Amino acid sequence: MNTKQTIAVIGASGNMGTAISVGIAKGNYKILLIDPAKDKLNNTLQEIHKYHPLADAEIVDCSVNAGWEADMVILAVPYQAEKAIADKIRAVVNQKIVISIANPLNDTYSGFETAPDTSAALELQKLLPNAKVVKAFNTTFAADFYTPVIDGKQVDSFIAGNDEEAVQTVQELITTVGFNPIIAGDLTVSRTLELMQLLLIQLGLKNNYNWHAGWKILHH
Ligand SMILES: NC(=O)c1ccc[n+]([C@@H]2O[C@H](COP(=O)([O-])OP(=O)(O)OC[C@H]3O[C@@H](n4cnc5c(N)ncnc54)[C@H](OP(=O)(O)O)[C@@H]3O)[C@@H](O)[C@H]2O)c1
Repeated sequence: MNTKQTIAVIGASGNMGTAISVGIAKGNYKILLIDPAKDKLNNTLQEIHKYHPLADAEIVDCSVNAGWEADMVILAVPYQAEKAIADKIRAVVNQKIVISIANPLNDTYSGFETAPDTSAALELQKLLPNAKVVKAFNTTFAADFYTPVIDGKQVDSFIAGNDEEAVQTVQELITTVGFNPIIAGDLTVSRTLELMQLLLIQLGLKNNYNWHAGWKILHH
């Protein structure tokens, strides 16, 4: 029997934090929910139990305690909030997987706040040099977690990371959530993955995809 892994979701009351928490509650994980707005976390907990009554999830006050207890940390916060969180959890995430889901969008969705030669994930790895940062879940909208099959096709979910074992662990997590995992490359590929979502957001706004769209690679 596999040992149950503990996953801390920081920003768990947001759109993605809630959707990811509900998605990972399908698997054999213990989920720790962290957010500055603690009252809103009750909604996340209720949402988890609505879909998965037996899920092992709890609200935790402090990101440091959660990071300490967790095997894996998901940062479901805006890119701009990541530095402050990284400063808090740096010492407790050594050798642990930290998932970067951020797309560092500017205010008008016309581009990124990051320079072209870097990415949110690469910047996070610099801030957490002893953690295993993996890019994942940035190319899937929050609504996709509730319906990971669109138009009869299972949405692809891309992974980029430098540590093979960490990438494999995240691949299993993505499979549990219900997406089709695709390992895209090392962490530098996160630049491309973040650009993919910028394009999908821009297309969604132009063509009214209603925030329920995803990438699918068709192949033989
Ligand atoms: N929405 C999507 O479909 C989507 C898809 C792919 C990737 N993403 C990425 O996912 C991330 C979250 O997006 P979102 O749409 O879920 O945003 P959101 O709904 O605004 O949620 C962000 C959450 O982070 C919390 N937060 C902010 N600063 C924090 C801090 N210092 N410590 C702990 N929690 C903090 C916020 O709490 P307060 O509200 O109390 O400030 C809020 O609950 C972003 O990086 C975005 O680029 C989003």
